[in-house]
Amino acid sequence: MAATILMTDPEFYEVSYTINPWMRPDQWSQDVAAAQALARHQWTNLKSKLEQDGITVLTMPGAAGLPDLVFPANAAIVLDGKALLARFRYPQRQGEEACFLKYFTQLKDQGIIQSVAPFPEGLYQEGAGDCLWDVTRSLFWAGWGPRSDRRAMDHVVGHFGKKVVGLELTSEKYYHLDTCFSVLSGGEILYYPEAFSWESRIVLEELVPPSQRIVATAEEAAAFSVNAVNVGRKLFLSSPPDSLVAKLRDKDYECVPLDLSMFVISGGGAFCLTLRLDRVSVANPAVV
Ligand code: ARG
Repeated sequence: MAATILMTDPEFYEVSYTINPWMRPDQWSQDVAAAQALARHQWTNLKSKLEQDGITVLTMPGAAGLPDLVFPANAAIVLDGKALLARFRYPQRQGEEACFLKYFTQLKDQGIIQSVAPFPEGLYQEGAGDCLWDVTRSLFWAGWGPRSDRRAMDHVVGHFGKKVVGLELTSEKYYHLDTCFSVLSGGEILYYPEAFSWESRIVLEELVPPSQRIVATAEEAAAFSVNAVNVGRKLFLSSPPDSLVAKLRDKDYECVPLDLSMFVISGGGAFCLTLRLDRVSVANPAVV
């Protein structure tokens, strides 16, 4: 499958602070060596499953003291070779901005990315975690509320020259759009409605006809299964309940289930652990 995905080596990953309700430093610290080993095992399994499917995975190094660098979905919004780098809301993650700038500058030098620009200071926007390209509708879906600012959407419009549809996230648990919303290659939207304000649910339902809505239950969302990496007809996702596997099968999608429990205790699933670098705005049958 033609796709290029970025991941971050989990060497310095840990759960040492709490900036979302899933984070469990107490659980991590029970047996740090075992936790680190299991996290690496789960991360490596995700990487191998992607590679077995022919996906190219680039790995950037981790950095001491920046455990959430392991979630590159938050690094940037990337479309048509342009990377717009994130600004993090919490001080615990702000040090990641310099690491991502350094790495993306290297990607540009290597010709993998064409341009790299930072978000203006004073606006919070946490990358693809809160801004997902929808090739079917030719627009970005942008989550705002707990992490990214609503005002950040104007800058995305200006930078990429694309339409941006904002969705307000109203629950602390589903603090990034990618935790409760996923755009699938066939144009379907997999989402957990309770995570959104009612106004945003109306906006979403006006743009996505019922036949293209796949509604996740509370159980499916809490397993971090909505936080899926979709390439072609496959979804790589954290422990999907049978109910979700069946719903996706009905729409002709195949699930590749993964145990990502050590990342779920930081509030992340498969999508958070990755960043697609080769997404293009115009549908291309060779790039899915
Ligand atoms: N502990 C991280 C945080 O709270 C998890 C980030 C997960 N990433 C994502 N794209 N949802 O920021």
